[in-house]
Amino acid sequence: MHKKSHLEERLAACGGILTVADLGEKNMKLAAQRRDLLPLGEIFGSPRPVHLEIGCGKGGFVNKMAALHPDVNFIAVEKISNVMIEACESALASGLQNVHFLICAAEVLPRYIGEGSVSRIYLNFSNPLPKQGFAKQRLTNPRFLKIYKYLLAEGGEIWQKTDDEAFFDYSLESYAQEGMNILSVCRDLASHNFEGNVITEHEAKFMAQGKKIFRAVVRA
Ligand SMILES: C[S@@+](CC[C@H](N)C(=O)[O-])C[C@H]1O[C@@H](n2cnc3c(N)ncnc32)[C@H](O)[C@@H]1O
Repeated sequence: MHKKSHLEERLAACGGILTVADLGEKNMKLAAQRRDLLPLGEIFGSPRPVHLEIGCGKGGFVNKMAALHPDVNFIAVEKISNVMIEACESALASGLQNVHFLICAAEVLPRYIGEGSVSRIYLNFSNPLPKQGFAKQRLTNPRFLKIYKYLLAEGGEIWQKTDDEAFFDYSLESYAQEGMNILSVCRDLASHNFEGNVITEHEAKFMAQGKKIFRAVVRA
């Protein structure tokens, strides 16, 4: 993807609803050990449950969810600012008060989001990365699940959707390996009446191709 024009100025204009992680520390493990917690009280004003989307892309999902659920505070995380800018600009244009964006790699989240401070994590159409050599980068690899356990409050849940069956099966194995409780598994979302499903950009594309959508809900 080409770098968007005036990206830095556009990110700066979203300052009130956007935090850009410190990219100075190249060692992700060291970066994750630091603590620069987002001041959620200041950011959101009201102490509502926090839902976190990891890999939000252009933000269609999180912005729709924030508009539909004013009783929830949403944090959307994406590692590529070139993609995230669209999400931020759209939230600003809609005047959403209950969504904050964080440009950050999922590996470093404990630096910015406190232990037990999130009640739900959304993983929507995470990159399946089918090659074995990339398994550690998959967002449902056990090393990420350990981070999610840290971020989630008691009883907190992960809600996952994907079009990729092999990645879905891999994710279910990872959840079980980490001792997580798989609450529901759906192998064809279209054949189930999941009321309140908000369709993401990738979901719309895959549905148009006639692909099945897989969904799981897991308690950490
Ligand atoms: C396939 S896209 C899905 C976008 C959106 N959730 C949707 O359903 O349309 C996956 C996104 O996850 C982001 N991503 C992948 N690995 C990540 C990581 N370690 N930390 C943060 N974001 C990540 C990618 O940059 C990409 O934008």
